[in-house]
Amino acid sequence: MKRTYIADSLKSVGKKIRVCGWINSKRDHGSLLFIDLRDRTGVLQVVFQQEVNQKLFSLAQELTLESALCIEGTIRERPKGTENLQIKTGKIEMIAEDLEVFSKAKTLPFPLEKANQVREELRLKYRYLDLRREEMVETLRIRQKTIQFMRKFLQEKGFLEVETPLLGKSTPEGARDFLVPSRLHPGKFYALPQSPQQYKQMLMVAGIERYFQIARCLRDEDPRADRQVEHTQLDIEMSFVSQEEILSLIEELYIRLVKEIFPNKKITKIPFIRMTYKEAMRRYKTDKPDLRRDKKDPDELAFAFITDFPMFEWKKEERRWGAMHHPFTKPQVEDIKRIKESPESILAYQYDFVLNGYEIGGGSLRTTDLEVLTAVFEVLGHKKEEIRKNFGHYFEAFSYGVPPHGGIAPGIDRFLSIVLNKPSIREVIAFPKTGDGRDLLMGAPSKVKKEQLEELHIIVKNYP
Ligand code: AMO
Repeated sequence: MKRTYIADSLKSVGKKIRVCGWINSKRDHGSLLFIDLRDRTGVLQVVFQQEVNQKLFSLAQELTLESALCIEGTIRERPKGTENLQIKTGKIEMIAEDLEVFSKAKTLPFPLEKANQVREELRLKYRYLDLRREEMVETLRIRQKTIQFMRKFLQEKGFLEVETPLLGKSTPEGARDFLVPSRLHPGKFYALPQSPQQYKQMLMVAGIERYFQIARCLRDEDPRADRQVEHTQLDIEMSFVSQEEILSLIEELYIRLVKEIFPNKKITKIPFIRMTYKEAMRRYKTDKPDLRRDKKDPDELAFAFITDFPMFEWKKEERRWGAMHHPFTKPQVEDIKRIKESPESILAYQYDFVLNGYEIGGGSLRTTDLEVLTAVFEVLGHKKEEIRKNFGHYFEAFSYGVPPHGGIAPGIDRFLSIVLNKPSIREVIAFPKTGDGRDLLMGAPSKVKKEQLEELHIIVKNYP
């Protein structure tokens, strides 16, 4: 018999159908046994009656929670007074006639309905069980809707979605690179992208003009609660564009996104607040101020753009200048000499996108003047020869008609965790890693075979 989804069982009153799924709950009432069967569309109450079919009844009694099975039976209206108006199928039930068990589940490491009370590490280790919960699936659905909305919005505005490589060359974004050893080129390494920054700028040289990508970014970050070593950005780049045009685009996208997908939320101020870095620091002592009117209101969203960041920041421990955003950001300076003479005084065409006290995006206009770019790299401590060696492709590309360009990259995980009021960014990612970068489900990172290391021309000190 063909399978019917539980949501469609509503149309089958009086008919025999086959439903498949997992045992959500089980209630034994002596000669009656109730099983709530769950599939991706809903939950259905199935009744096993001892007096009608003793064999089937005994089989059902032995079933454990979360086992995977199909049940055939007739759908009927529930007897008066036993309806459950909390669920969509609360007015019907199935009288079981046959049963096919595919996989009997062991006792679960934690009861799914108590998932919010167990150690998060346990949930991460058994993520496939954690993801059986409606709350988790609903988050994944909202994530999909959000990404779909972003795609459609940008495509309608003439943006082209382009995939850029994962195996590439190091792009500085402020974290460490994950390196991938090359087997075919001994001693050489790819870097996984901290962001598609350089490739998207190459696409501007290529004349794409309006690019976006739902981009996975990999950063070897120091452990921090709200950061992941892998995250997803809505990566955008545009040519012949002003800073205000980029900000307005993001503003329109997020206003429409909230209206469509999070209609219960209220945006504090439209147009979004725009404030310089200097003003934010003076008034709120932070570059990501929480501008909600009522900080206790879980439905308020205070979006803001913080603009005109300093180009450089002094890295005390390393005793050197670092780029506040990244080196490709355009300094607000007419006189190139000033970049080297007084880095601390230079502002940049750089902006952050902020929500309720969190940075949910960052971007900038980019330097296309190669002398300015060289000066910036020099302030960052790179030698002239080194700059050419590491970024030669960039300099070369920029000498064939580079358009003025700029972009932004809102982080998708961070935004979702805020708008859904989740306690951590891990709640909106299907398979997140721990704060210190471990995948508890797969057991990564892990040791590899010695032969693999040999093939990769790698010797690990004291490898047991
Ligand atoms: P930036 O480094 O500011 O900019 O990153 C953009 C946004 O991505 C999110 N994000 C993270 N989310 C979770 N875990 C992390 N480890 C993490 N790191 C960053 C944040 C952040 O605001 N290439 C530039 C963008 C550009 O200039 O166009 C970039 O990556 O929400």
